[in-house]
Amino acid sequence: MIALNEISKTYGNVSALKRVNLEIHSGEIFAIIGNSGAGKTTLLKIISMLETDFSGKYMFKGLEARKNPEKVRKQVTMVFQNPVMFRASVFDNVAYGLRIRGVNGRELRERVESILESLGILSLADKNARKLSGGQRQRVAVARALVMDVDVYTLDEPTANLDAENVRIIERAISDMRDDGKTIILATHNLFQAKRLADRTAYIENGEVIEVGETDRLFESPEDERTRRFVEGDHYF
Ligand SMILES: Nc1ncnc2c1ncn2[C@@H]1O[C@H](COP(=O)(O)OP(=O)(O)OP(=O)(O)O)[C@@H](O)[C@H]1O
Ligand SMILES: [Mg+2]
Repeated sequence: MIALNEISKTYGNVSALKRVNLEIHSGEIFAIIGNSGAGKTTLLKIISMLETDFSGKYMFKGLEARKNPEKVRKQVTMVFQNPVMFRASVFDNVAYGLRIRGVNGRELRERVESILESLGILSLADKNARKLSGGQRQRVAVARALVMDVDVYTLDEPTANLDAENVRIIERAISDMRDDGKTIILATHNLFQAKRLADRTAYIENGEVIEVGETDRLFESPEDERTRRFVEGDHYF
């Protein structure tokens, strides 16, 4: 589905990603873990082709992403770490992407309402999206992505700073997405979340992929000393 080959990214003299090689399979939940500044968001932006200035080769479903950025963007939707709401109702925030693709009327209403319902925010449909709590806003951001019904989702810290109930709702939505055959790439600080959700996990440190593997194996018997320190360290929060 996704093959990254020697992907590097620099911002000025900061090396955000260093020769990253990764394959992500269709239908899996793939977690990217690592400390703040490790390069997780940068990697998700490249996968989503929202950042196109990088070196190396990125193949998406057999196509070279750099030559087909629009095709990638149509099939990949990113949920940002700090989602921005339009100054409009929750309904309109979620409907926006469908409207620009020409969906309207009853189909639009039904699709939006069913997603709002699944995330427990149907009762907020008419509320101004700028006036939501953090957890509500994060659920709207997930709803906005889900309603697009694309093949691949990149989720950047989708539950950072949320309470247990919001985490539970969003994690359930993520595993339902996988059950629907979606491919999910999830950046998270939360190691427990990677353990609960991900089929495979990559640990990145200073822009470098240190280790990739089945999630259980990576946590239980890391092969690299740096991975071991990270998963056994006091990074749990
Ligand atoms: N637009 C930018 N301009 C300059 N430097 C940037 C930019 N975006 C990211 N960086 C740098 O690239 C590196 C990787 O950043 P990135 O946001 O990918 O990390 P992250 O793993 O997502 O961190 P966090 O867990 O804090 O979200 C950091 O050193 C960061 O300062
Ligand atoms: Mg980040």
